[in-house]
Amino acid sequence: MFPSLIRVISAMLFISVLFSPTNGLDRKISAHLNPGCQGCSSNTTTLVYIRGEGKSDVLHQIWDFTKHLPTVLLSVGSLNTSLNIQWIENKPIYFNWTEKPWYTFAATIDKLYEYDDIHDTGYINPQYPQMEYSLKRISWELQESILTNSEAMVHVTGKIHNRNNNDAVISIKLDLLPFKDYAVELPHLIHTANSTLIDVSLVNLTTSFNASRYALHFVLASTDNPTDTMHYIMRKSLDDEHTPGVFEIIEIKTPSLYDSKEGGYLQFRPVSYTSPKRNVASSTIAHVSQFNRTMMPRDSTLSLFFKESQQMILVQDMFVSFGESGDGYYKQHNYTAWAYTMGYGTPPEDGFSFFVILIISIGLGVPIVLALSGVAFVLFRRYRQTNTRTRFTNED
Ligand SMILES: *[C@@H]1O[C@H](CO)[C@@H](O)[C@H](O)[C@H]1NC(C)=O
Ligand SMILES: *[C@@H]1O[C@H](CO)[C@@H](O)[C@H](O)[C@H]1NC(C)=O
Ligand SMILES: *[C@@H]1O[C@H](CO)[C@@H](O)[C@H](O)[C@H]1NC(C)=O
Ligand SMILES: *[C@@H]1O[C@H](CO)[C@@H](O)[C@H](O)[C@H]1NC(C)=O
Ligand SMILES: *[C@@H]1O[C@H](CO)[C@@H](O)[C@H](O)[C@H]1NC(C)=O
Ligand SMILES: *[C@@H]1O[C@H](CO)[C@@H](O)[C@H](O)[C@H]1NC(C)=O
Ligand SMILES: *[C@@H]1O[C@H](CO)[C@@H](O)[C@H](O)[C@H]1NC(C)=O
Ligand SMILES: *[C@@H]1O[C@H](CO)[C@@H](O)[C@H](O)[C@H]1NC(C)=O
Repeated sequence: MFPSLIRVISAMLFISVLFSPTNGLDRKISAHLNPGCQGCSSNTTTLVYIRGEGKSDVLHQIWDFTKHLPTVLLSVGSLNTSLNIQWIENKPIYFNWTEKPWYTFAATIDKLYEYDDIHDTGYINPQYPQMEYSLKRISWELQESILTNSEAMVHVTGKIHNRNNNDAVISIKLDLLPFKDYAVELPHLIHTANSTLIDVSLVNLTTSFNASRYALHFVLASTDNPTDTMHYIMRKSLDDEHTPGVFEIIEIKTPSLYDSKEGGYLQFRPVSYTSPKRNVASSTIAHVSQFNRTMMPRDSTLSLFFKESQQMILVQDMFVSFGESGDGYYKQHNYTAWAYTMGYGTPPEDGFSFFVILIISIGLGVPIVLALSGVAFVLFRRYRQTNTRTRFTNED
């Protein structure tokens, strides 16, 4: 009994060590704001370049707001690849690689849609009245940044210009932590050295319809076959410990990742928040639309980056919309925040935490112990009965 208990406990400890965050960094990162730019003012021009050196490859990330559409590019190449960016004034004009990267995955938010959710579902439908707002009209301001060897983070905000509202803001935070762990904030997505956490908030936007909701329009691009398609995958997770009440994980996978276990991905939970204080009460649903084939936005970071190979890139778009039936629409809170990670490799999966393993062990262990003690008790009684009976016979 006891040796097996000890074995169970040590197995549990071993498993929890296996799933606990490693404190070593999995990639050596160096991050720079507007590298090579002479005429850039540090809070109105935001292009972050991060070189993440691993054992056998380099993951290059570019986070660009200079051409107005928030864009993240991930490129993987050999240890020899490095990137120089050429600028004219405060605009990048050329990405100069010492060696062509092997693979690139990119995502841009090019538009914000306001739509009249007449059936109150939370999904955006082309038949509903809607208005698009191009993010080309936004000038982004850098509010905060951390660019060190153990973290790269920027927080950028853009004002949405409306006739009667000066407080409407889109706020975007990008954070790269080069090791595997759960994010501090809900929905506690998993970040790794191969991914970046992205948090988008839509604050105090004015609404024009009775049932207004907002949707983000994404353009995804990857160096995959242009006739192939991105894949939408929904996984059920056994454990909602990190995101109470949410048991699904959604992944958008590039064809390379879908076919051969390595490629670009977006990963998120189908949840968004209607208050800066994130909790179960302030959570609502985030919906993803189907993908359609599209073109790269004109004069964008994407079209600049893929200038020489535009015909050879897979480009698709999708919507992410927020809200659920009966939640009072966007105007109920005038706030929506949503988080996702964008990465390269294989998307991380939840491990069981020590707590969950303990619960499972107790759940399985207690009945086993009870059953065993029941059996022991029966055996013991039989043994005593036979013994007493023998004694009686002896006395006879
Ligand atoms: C940007 O920098 C200028 C000059 O350094 C400063 O006056 C301004 O307040 C800054 N803006 C923000 C949003 O930090
Ligand atoms: C990197 O460059 C060095 C010298 O320039 C070369 O010897 C080496 O083969 C290159 N490595 C790769 C992986 O291309
Ligand atoms: C790219 O950089 C190399 C030096 O690293 C330089 O010789 C070359 O002219 C640059 N290419 C362009 C198009 O600027
Ligand atoms: C949004 O509006 C609320 C209420 O008017 C205000 O308290 C809050 O500061 C505004 N938020 C931003 C980011 O302007
Ligand atoms: C918006 O709602 C108000 C009050 O419920 C109603 O009078 C009005 O006709 C609605 N407008 C539209 C465009 O549906
Ligand atoms: C893709 O096309 C379908 C059918 O026209 C449409 O319902 C959907 O909203 C489109 N998705 C995007 C992201 O444009
Ligand atoms: C949201 O903003 C509208 C004006 O756009 C205002 O009438 C409404 O009271 C605001 N709601 C909250 C919860 O602040
Ligand atoms: C990151 O990507 C590399 C390949 O580039 C892979 O070997 C490594 O396992 C990945 N790490 C994580 C944490 O996904």
